[in-house]
Amino acid sequence: MMENSRKQNIYLIGMMGSWKSTVGKLLAERLERQFADTDNLLEETMKMSIPQIFKYLGEDRFRQEEALCLRAVSEQPEMVVATGGGIILTAENRSLLKTMGHTFFLKASPEVLAGRIRNIANRPKLHGPGDLLAKLRKLTAERRSFYTDTAGFIVDTDALTTDEVVDSVLEKLEGVQVDG
Ligand code: S3P
Repeated sequence: MMENSRKQNIYLIGMMGSWKSTVGKLLAERLERQFADTDNLLEETMKMSIPQIFKYLGEDRFRQEEALCLRAVSEQPEMVVATGGGIILTAENRSLLKTMGHTFFLKASPEVLAGRIRNIANRPKLHGPGDLLAKLRKLTAERRSFYTDTAGFIVDTDALTTDEVVDSVLEKLEGVQVDG
C-alpha cells in the first residue's frame, strides 16, 4: 500500500483561482514528478486557446475534449495534474479522479477567488454581464458538492500562501503513505 500510494497520480481540483496550477508546479518540483495541466494539454491538442474553443466549438465540445485530456494524462504514472475548474462537471471524470490517484480539492471562498483572479479574458465562464463575485458565488454553489464528493482531501486555502498549501498537501500524502 505504501509503495502503491506513492505511485498514484495526484490531482488538484477546485475553482478558477484556487491555485491548482501554481501549487501543482511547486508540488511536482518537491516530489520530483512530472507536472501536467489539463487546460494546457487541451490548448496544445486543439491548437486553439480556451476562449476560442468555447466561442467556436462550444462548452459541450470543450468538456468532451477535457475528458479525453484527463484520460490521456492519467495513463501516465506518478503525475501531478492540475485540472480545469469544471472538470468535476463530467461524471466520468469524477469517477476517474476518485480511482486513479489522490485528489485534493483546493478550497477557496468566492471573495478570496475574486481577489486572486487577474485574467478574466482567458476564462469564458467569467465573461458576460454581472460582477465577478456574483459569478464566482453562483459557480461555487453549483459545484461545491462535486468538489467535496470527488476529493479524497480538502485543503482550505483562504488563509494560506501557495507554499503553505503545498506543505499541507504533502502532509496529507505522508499520512496516506504511513497509515496505508
Ligand atoms: C473553467 C476553468 C478553467 C478552464 C475553462 C473552464 C471552469 O480552468 O478549464 O475556462 O469551468 O471553471 P482554470 O480553473 O484552470 O482557470
